[in-house]
Amino acid sequence: MIKHIPVMTDEVIKFLNCKPDGIYVDGTLGGGGHTAQILDASAPTGRVIGIDWDEDAIKAARTELKDYSQRLTIVRENFANIKEIMDSLTIKGVDGILLDLGVSSYHLESQERGFSFRFDSPLDMRMDRRQGESAYDIVNKYSCGQLEDIIRKFGEERWAKKIAKAITERRRHGPIATTKELSDLVSSAIPKRFHPTDIHPATKTFQAIRIAVNDELNNLKKAIDDCVDLLFPGGRIAIISFHSLEDRIVKISFRRIEKGCTCPDDFPRCVCGKKPRLSIVTKKPVTPSLQEISKNPRARSAKLRVGERL
Ligand SMILES: C[S@@+](CC[C@H](N)C(=O)[O-])C[C@H]1O[C@@H](n2cnc3c(N)ncnc32)[C@H](O)[C@@H]1O
Repeated sequence: MIKHIPVMTDEVIKFLNCKPDGIYVDGTLGGGGHTAQILDASAPTGRVIGIDWDEDAIKAARTELKDYSQRLTIVRENFANIKEIMDSLTIKGVDGILLDLGVSSYHLESQERGFSFRFDSPLDMRMDRRQGESAYDIVNKYSCGQLEDIIRKFGEERWAKKIAKAITERRRHGPIATTKELSDLVSSAIPKRFHPTDIHPATKTFQAIRIAVNDELNNLKKAIDDCVDLLFPGGRIAIISFHSLEDRIVKISFRRIEKGCTCPDDFPRCVCGKKPRLSIVTKKPVTPSLQEISKNPRARSAKLRVGERL
């Protein structure tokens, strides 16, 4: 059985300041590693709402966390709908929220979910398999321009144009149906001498398509504002990101909410009336220790940012 090792658990628990009667949200329940720590830190009466949109993650977490069922509510939903989720549970505010973004080891190690080029599997990449569009649809139906845009923006891939062209040309002979077909195609579109030495040549393209399939950046943008709204004064939001696009969104959103006022800089005084709602606790992102990275290499790109509701 694959085990997802949660990252920076000590740091998350320290920054969330869990208290015994608090209510917490883990917006990315996954295998339940962080949730178990939050439940322990908020024992005996603290409550956690654990959200995940992936059926497999929910099943794994239910088994893993069965001893906590009295204090844990599990919801299969998109964390971008956190306000509606809390409304449906008649919860008006919470003391802490964690988002540990991206895919889990369950996704990456699954042979049939299509997240990894290490296996030859159908192109899927949906974390929530109730959702309509999969990687297959994007790869086989989007125009060359749309594909180039996705691969450049979400993969920060300099060879985006060539890769998009190779995909659309190859499609003329029939659909691209598997991760192997796509990764071979991407590798052959990038000139050999420019192949990266530290990662697979298809890494950035796979990341880009996964982000597009799951609308990851828009979900994050929406969730941050709604999470801050839900926090009680003194409550904290902790977000762990795994690539620069996510981290940039967290950084910019936190700064905007901390500033409050949205008037142009050259206005002599504020006319928008918006007040600061957040104080940034981590002036710089917190990163895992070398010891943690040596035990769990997946942690190496993790960045944790924390804000406190005013
Ligand atoms: C990195 S894993 C979290 C691992 C978890 N912290 C643990 O300790 O096991 C991210 C999880 O978030 C879920 N996820 C990602 N985006 C989501 C979204 N918008 N809504 C709900 N769940 C999401 C994924 O399905 C995945 O299970």
